[in-house]
Amino acid sequence: MNASPAAAPPPKNDKSAYVRDMFATIAPRYDRANRIISAGMDEGWRKRAIALLRAPAGGRIADLCCGTGDIVFHLLRTDPTLRVTGIDFCEPMLVRARARSVREGAGSTEFLEGDVMALPFADNSFDGAIMGFAMRNVASIDATLREIRRVLKPGARFVNLDMSKAPNAAWKACFDLYFYGIVPLIGGIVGGSREAYTYLPNSLTHHPDAEALRDRFREAGFANAAFARLMGGAVAIHYGDAP
Ligand SMILES: C[S@@+](CC[C@H](N)C(=O)[O-])C[C@H]1O[C@@H](n2cnc3c(N)ncnc32)[C@H](O)[C@@H]1O
Repeated sequence: MNASPAAAPPPKNDKSAYVRDMFATIAPRYDRANRIISAGMDEGWRKRAIALLRAPAGGRIADLCCGTGDIVFHLLRTDPTLRVTGIDFCEPMLVRARARSVREGAGSTEFLEGDVMALPFADNSFDGAIMGFAMRNVASIDATLREIRRVLKPGARFVNLDMSKAPNAAWKACFDLYFYGIVPLIGGIVGGSREAYTYLPNSLTHHPDAEALRDRFREAGFANAAFARLMGGAVAIHYGDAP
């Protein structure tokens, strides 16, 4: 059975608009759908990514493509001295992040609308940057990595958490059955859009595997580029340090 329908990705210049509109549609139910689709494991993955960030106390951290702010709030729970800026280009996701910020009484946080490929920050602005489940969605991985490197201070780390391609063929086949077959069904029921939750798994089909993505970090100028696999490689955390 072919569990990877591999729908063609949207054309590159339309990708940003397509992704923005898609997240606007699923924003109201995004958090609940995430928890159900990942069986609650996404929270643990975010914590692993935050541990790898090694954010310095009191540091200024960017959560890129922050969505509803899950990583922002985890960061602040881990270390309330951090100053965290969430950036996303989908306003309905940010509306939810800001509402959560008020509810959770989150300390030093701001949520800004912006495109991660053209960040509204000066060079060397941040002591660390993190991105969760979004690299598959950007129109250009290389432009995004170069832009992130630009806004990081020398030595500051970027951590990227995302779905990846498991290296073991049998495990990958099992996981693909779930990811490409079941996730769109759950997404249709819980997330409110079967189309969105068909696009999201398919965006992995055209994404580099873990080794290739690490090499893209190196090509963008990150030092010490490496990755850790979670879930047998179905999820990966990549990281690298600004030179
Ligand atoms: C799957 S959600 C992840 C949200 C959050 N990081 C999390 O861990 O739950 C992907 C987010 O990336 C945002 N996004 C995608 N491409 C973007 C871009 N080029 N610039 C800014 N945000 C972008 C979308 O609007 C969406 O909120």
